[in-house]
Amino acid sequence: MNFRVRPVRQLTGECEVPGDKSISHRAALLGAIAEGPTEVQGYLEGEDCLRTLTAIQLMGVEVGKKGPGHYRIAGVGLNGLAEPGDIVDCGNSGTTARLLIGFVAGQPFWTLLTGDESLRRRPMKRVAEPLALMGATIVGRADGGRLPLAVRGAARPRAIAYDTPVASAQVKSAILLAGLRADAPVTVREPAPSRDHSELMLRGFGARVERPDARTVILHPGPLRGTAIQVPGDISSAAFVLAAGLIVPGARVTVRRVGVNPTRTGLLDVLTAMRAPLTIATHGGPDASAEPMAALTVSAAPLAATTVAGALIPRLIDEIPVLAVLAATAQGVTEIRDAAELRVKESDRIAMLARELAKMGVRVDDRADGMAITGGQRFRGARVASAGDHRMAMALAVAGLVADGETVIEDAACVQTSFPTFVDTLNALAGGDAITVER
Ligand code: S3P
Repeated sequence: MNFRVRPVRQLTGECEVPGDKSISHRAALLGAIAEGPTEVQGYLEGEDCLRTLTAIQLMGVEVGKKGPGHYRIAGVGLNGLAEPGDIVDCGNSGTTARLLIGFVAGQPFWTLLTGDESLRRRPMKRVAEPLALMGATIVGRADGGRLPLAVRGAARPRAIAYDTPVASAQVKSAILLAGLRADAPVTVREPAPSRDHSELMLRGFGARVERPDARTVILHPGPLRGTAIQVPGDISSAAFVLAAGLIVPGARVTVRRVGVNPTRTGLLDVLTAMRAPLTIATHGGPDASAEPMAALTVSAAPLAATTVAGALIPRLIDEIPVLAVLAATAQGVTEIRDAAELRVKESDRIAMLARELAKMGVRVDDRADGMAITGGQRFRGARVASAGDHRMAMALAVAGLVADGETVIEDAACVQTSFPTFVDTLNALAGGDAITVER
């Protein structure tokens, strides 16, 4: 399926975006091993998070659907999971794969996991290594470093104090999930703080989590108590709407109920540095442990180039494709550094941005750990590839909204993984068919 994108003359109004992908995965997993039921509202019904629900069902957890995005997960407790009777297919979802490997690393049974072509290329050693130290056996392709993998969990994982070589919330969360059944408290230290949804949610489920500083987390093993979770809108999806609202001439858009956890709002800091007119109207979550939410409003304005590097990178890693599109319209050269992780996402996003934006007439110089984007450019309509990467497809569609002529984005069905309502949301704001779907 392809997207055909036409340049638009207006973009105005308010919208909401689907639930946060990271928080949805965690709600399913923690709900599954809690004691008693967990009610989740606002769950992201995209392909990635549905994979996680299917996985816990394969382990004997009952999941009841009560309405759109509303699920009741019948927690079985830390000792109640059953060995899955079939291979767990994680599809395109790196979070499903890495979090699940940690989830079953402390369960005394075998789990076999696989994924689609993109996921089978992505590195799994980063979770396999610390989990092996905890006593799990992980075997499979590339010496246990690529899916398909088989995991034999340790009945009683050994506690570790682990320094992660990359700032990755997936690695941190995998260790914490295994740590719930460990023989003593587990410590994870990161080179820079990554998203802390697991830590916040573990506390919401009654776990004892200490955070001596922003880069360190200590989890005390023990049971979880089922709870109620309201998932905020995903800032990584809102990013595409906000970017469109900044570059379509005369645009003004508001995205309501967006999660604004500070470990995820690097994009908002960068937009401010780019002199974007942005207002953030915060309205706190329903309780102290919950995630903060805000209504975000932008209007179109000339943007200035900036530098994005260091500790900012983990706070906006998924927003870099659309940030590159914004940078192409800004005045000056935008530098993105310390972002080698982009090469092992759903696609090699550094290579993809350089190649696909070049087809639209925009110069991106790729570097080993980032890129330099020359601003002040106009996009030319073109036929571009998404490589099945949802965030590439959506970033290129945003560029298409302000291109000269029509843009065709190939293999765009992948937007279903994280933002199933992407086309309808942008078309509603544009007041017409800016994006049409070709089957
Ligand atoms: C995620 C963490 C990030 C992010 C991914 C979701 C998570 O990956 O890119 O989309 O939910 O923990 P890394 O942990 O590999 O940085």
